[in-house]
Amino acid sequence: MGDIRSFDAADGATGITPSLTKDSASNSDRILRVLHSLTLEDKCLLLSGKNMWETHDIPRLGIQSLKTSDGPAGVRGATWTDGTHTTFIPCGIALAATFDPALVQRVGKVLGSEARSKGAHVLLAPTMNISRSPFGGRNFENFGEDPFLTGTHATAYIAGVQDDGNGVGACMKHFVANDMETRRFNMDETISERTLREIYLKPFHMVAVQSETPPWTAMTSYPKINGKHADTSRELVHDILREEWGFDGLVMSDWGGLNSTVDSIHATTDLEMPGPPLRYGTVLAQAVRRGEVSESKLIDPAVIRLLRLLDRCSLLPGDDKPGDSVSLSSCSSSTEKSEAETDTPEFRQTARETAANSVVLLKNENNILPLKPEKLQTLAIIGPNAKHPTLGGTGSAVVNPYYTTNPFDSLSETAKIGNPKIEITYEPGILTSLQPPLMGHCLTRPDSGDPGFQVDFYAGHAFSGPVVATTYWHDSLVYCMSDGDVPTELVGQPYSYRATGRLRPSVTGAYNISLSSTGKAKLFINDTLAIDNTDWTTISGNFMNCGSEERLAIVELTAGKTYSVRVDNVAVPPPTPPHDNTLFHRISGVRVGLLYRYDEAAMFAAAVNTARTADAVVLVVGHNNDTEREGSDRTSLSLPGRTDALIAAICSVNSNVVVVTQSACAISMPWVQDPQAIVQAWYQGQECGNAVADVLFGAVNPSGKLPLTFPKRIEDHGSHKWFPGNAVTDKAEYGEGVLVGYRWFDARGIEPLWPFGYGLSYSSFSVSGIAVDGTVTHETSAVVKATVTNTSAVVGSEVVQVYLSPSPAIAAAGLDAAPKALAGFTKVRLSAGESKRVEITLQEDAFAWWDTRRNGWRVDKGIYKAFLGTSSRHIVEEVDVHVA
Ligand code: BGC
Repeated sequence: MGDIRSFDAADGATGITPSLTKDSASNSDRILRVLHSLTLEDKCLLLSGKNMWETHDIPRLGIQSLKTSDGPAGVRGATWTDGTHTTFIPCGIALAATFDPALVQRVGKVLGSEARSKGAHVLLAPTMNISRSPFGGRNFENFGEDPFLTGTHATAYIAGVQDDGNGVGACMKHFVANDMETRRFNMDETISERTLREIYLKPFHMVAVQSETPPWTAMTSYPKINGKHADTSRELVHDILREEWGFDGLVMSDWGGLNSTVDSIHATTDLEMPGPPLRYGTVLAQAVRRGEVSESKLIDPAVIRLLRLLDRCSLLPGDDKPGDSVSLSSCSSSTEKSEAETDTPEFRQTARETAANSVVLLKNENNILPLKPEKLQTLAIIGPNAKHPTLGGTGSAVVNPYYTTNPFDSLSETAKIGNPKIEITYEPGILTSLQPPLMGHCLTRPDSGDPGFQVDFYAGHAFSGPVVATTYWHDSLVYCMSDGDVPTELVGQPYSYRATGRLRPSVTGAYNISLSSTGKAKLFINDTLAIDNTDWTTISGNFMNCGSEERLAIVELTAGKTYSVRVDNVAVPPPTPPHDNTLFHRISGVRVGLLYRYDEAAMFAAAVNTARTADAVVLVVGHNNDTEREGSDRTSLSLPGRTDALIAAICSVNSNVVVVTQSACAISMPWVQDPQAIVQAWYQGQECGNAVADVLFGAVNPSGKLPLTFPKRIEDHGSHKWFPGNAVTDKAEYGEGVLVGYRWFDARGIEPLWPFGYGLSYSSFSVSGIAVDGTVTHETSAVVKATVTNTSAVVGSEVVQVYLSPSPAIAAAGLDAAPKALAGFTKVRLSAGESKRVEITLQEDAFAWWDTRRNGWRVDKGIYKAFLGTSSRHIVEEVDVHVA
């Protein structure tokens, strides 16, 4: 067994009293001067939100509010739905699939700039949790199953957001182990110290300690980790994040996830979000007065961290106001005036390039791709996602994009440029949404004829007396997320609201109409009660787990006729206390869906018939916002509904089928042998359609790699036995330990369907001349070198990956060891026939493992294997690396 040593904690931080040495002397003086001008009440108020997105201001002292904004897929601004338009970037898992941190940094820069134009000082992103199971409902936000890959892309994302020109801070979230949605506020996760350190904490360590641009802030996670909610865990926030790592940024709670007053401030969780405060604010001041919390040891350091952040954002006394601060005191529309829209060609280009470069080509037999329109007389585009693609995730990833593109339009347009005579047909084939879709396309407001609902608010529950306020929503979804969405005079009072609109269908026939609500709601069509949802009892994933399941009715509607639609909703809390979240029980909303009652068998048959006669078929299928979303975990590896059957049927009648799949997770592919090509396209934001067309017609040569292992069956996956845990006892065990993702498949010798790091190109490459320079010590690194050659006639990019073998001491100690773990990668672009030498540096920490017996990191001397390849299962050569 080799040397044992502990890594030093990062310098300069005590975790209790933040060091002001990083600030200039005059800034430190200023911050201390402001601190000394504050009363205890002021301080405790500053440590809490004022409203949904802003921190408290203290106008008396000239201290302004800091505005935060979601989130990972775009800068939403202050309004949850229907907000200011913004750039909708590909989701986190798509960003990771680019294996291109430089590109991700450019995306971050767009987000930082958008945050600035929306008046936000802190972007609530990136999400850095681990896609532990294919079933994780929020996998779309993550950068995949590997901590190094996650940390590398998160570092780049943060560097982009915090780019000097932006003046905006990032927020690393959710610290830590926010990896499942089942009972997400209450679940108690048992995770071994080694697993926590090597897998779940590692990306946070990379961005907080190893990066040159650590994030300005961090957000705690929702679940309990080893018995304690993260925000209350002094071990996690104070001991590890602050003392050991030296992170002196602000730590905020996740929304509604501040679980204690005394324990949370003791853990050094600085800020309760959102406001108004429930556990900080005056409650915290009282705890100080009772002697339960020390003002000098706990409150002042937290306030200093906050003031330092305000100082960075020019929000302290004497600073010029950088723009109108956002007032959320009445209904949400008032926020929009202070938020600018900055749709630029450069942002569009970055979004498109990223989306296209995230596409992973899984299979391409007979080089069917790229498609050549001039050789096709007929092209059938099939599948629900072709015209209605999934552009992103749900919850904090929802944005209101400047524009969207869909595969059908983009493919048709590009095909017609290549061959104006091409005949293009479309059939959806199947329905996969679980709920009837929103009906904004045929719903108009009674006042103006604009799409959506008019909503009139009333005091009390009787829908009588004067209308207190009226708001407008652009679809059949009313989503009052915060007090700011409700008239000020009704906040905290009994209230109700009436949503009205005019429905004008374009097809005659029977429809399913659906209603889901938080409170007690009734839906009327032409003043006749259609659905009574006042007695619901079962909580669903709607409205952040505060809403009912969908209730359905069948209605006969005539094309061109106008019907009045009315929903009366009494805003009362859900019938059963849903969860330990201080925020979400305040959400209020109604959702009305409408779906023509198709003959699904006929629909399926029409798609197969269309495919039968086409020269080629592009079949676009996948998950949607019902089947993969924040608030619930999936329960099956299969694509939704009859997708598998449709793919098999289409492939049985046409031998030129390209299947494009959309998901943020691994999916099973029982039909994998059937189509000629398979393309994994994730959720790609506003440029989804263009990105798919760019790749399928060859304007972009695919270069994405899988940031996840696709198992053949869920039973093969390491998380299978353990995920999501027991939803009755609220206990979850991370029983696969460090063997997350490909580590499990390698350790158990299981053949995946598609391995981690895998992805094809229209080019072919060879990797040769592999060598290692140098020896790894405390001060020196080893460099793995190789020559990559583009052996084809097409310009393209390849990702060279280096995996390291574990220390033999791990197995000797009787512990699980992954046979190899990703330690470096580089993406190289090569012209036809071109060769380039690539280098991947391996530093000491790539060899470190957490030794629980010594309670520290250790690096063992010896000879390790470096596996160099183009996927975790395509290793070109293994070479020795010496650690001295
Ligand atoms: C999510 C966070 C998000 C916050 C504000 C929470 O439910 O977990 O990621 O930033 O809401 O929307």
